[in-house]
Amino acid sequence: MHFTNLFTVALLGASAVLAAPTAFSKMTNCNVSGIKLADRKVLITDPNNSTNALPPPTTAEGKLFKIALGVGTQNFSCAAAGSDPVSNGAYAILYDFSCIFLANEDAAKTLGDLAAQMKPDALNIFMKMTQNMLNVQYPIGKHFFKGDFTTPAFEFIDGQKFYGGVAGKVPAPAGSYAGQNGLGAVPSLKLTPKAGMGSTITTVYRIHTAGGVGPAKCDRPGIKQFPYSAEYWFYKA
Ligand SMILES: *[C@@H]1O[C@H](CO)[C@@H](O)[C@H](O)[C@H]1NC(C)=O
Ligand SMILES: *[C@@H]1O[C@H](CO)[C@@H](O)[C@H](O)[C@H]1NC(C)=O
Ligand SMILES: *[C@@H]1O[C@H](CO)[C@@H](O)[C@H](O)[C@H]1NC(C)=O
Ligand SMILES: *[C@@H]1O[C@H](CO)[C@@H](O)[C@H](O)[C@H]1NC(C)=O
Repeated sequence: MHFTNLFTVALLGASAVLAAPTAFSKMTNCNVSGIKLADRKVLITDPNNSTNALPPPTTAEGKLFKIALGVGTQNFSCAAAGSDPVSNGAYAILYDFSCIFLANEDAAKTLGDLAAQMKPDALNIFMKMTQNMLNVQYPIGKHFFKGDFTTPAFEFIDGQKFYGGVAGKVPAPAGSYAGQNGLGAVPSLKLTPKAGMGSTITTVYRIHTAGGVGPAKCDRPGIKQFPYSAEYWFYKA
């Protein structure tokens, strides 16, 4: 089923190349500034409280310049069996989805869903394959945690960077992919920069999350990694 969808998406892309050369001829540096976060209302609003939503981007935060798919793991450390898991950062590769979004938003969303449902090896092959078929410069950077586990960081290959903290959080909507363990999707977030850390990106939204949630209690000591994916929207002034 995954592979049927996968090929549907890949073919969507391939046929778009044939049918509409302008849509897929340029796969990097697409201008996404016209795409509105407000159009993804369900992803930025608390499913049980419609007045609780992620703060919209401010004028000072500027314009959306990149939409990326982040694929990786949310990490936790466990001291002992029965203890509470402690956040131990996260690691994700960022794939450029800006052009796919502009060309076919449904394909981009389907790719996001699929990414979260695949085991890492399959995902690696899938990403290489779509990259080759669509001629996309997919990996644009990485997401990790800097220093402690309270500073989410994003570093792009081209030098743009972000080091920040959580400025808004709402639960993922019902129907989000609950991960390979079925325990749920991590919340939607707004992140804003921490002063003095050299961020060139003004704000980051994490939306359309899938997976990444672990059990409430540890089963044994060690580092736990829970696969997740999310769309990351990056703004700059
Ligand atoms: C990018 O798109 C926006 C809105 O779609 C448009 O107003 C702007 O002029 C475009 N910028 C460039 C550099 O093409
Ligand atoms: C809903 O969210 C608003 C805004 O965050 C908050 O003021 C209000 O208390 C929330 N309502 C409930 C029932 O939690
Ligand atoms: C989190 O897990 C990833 C594997 O997905 C690993 O590469 C990374 O080093 C881990 N980070 C921490 C802080 O444990
Ligand atoms: C929303 O409320 C329903 C019904 O009380 C509950 O089952 C669900 O877990 C809540 N969802 C979130 C994201 O809090």
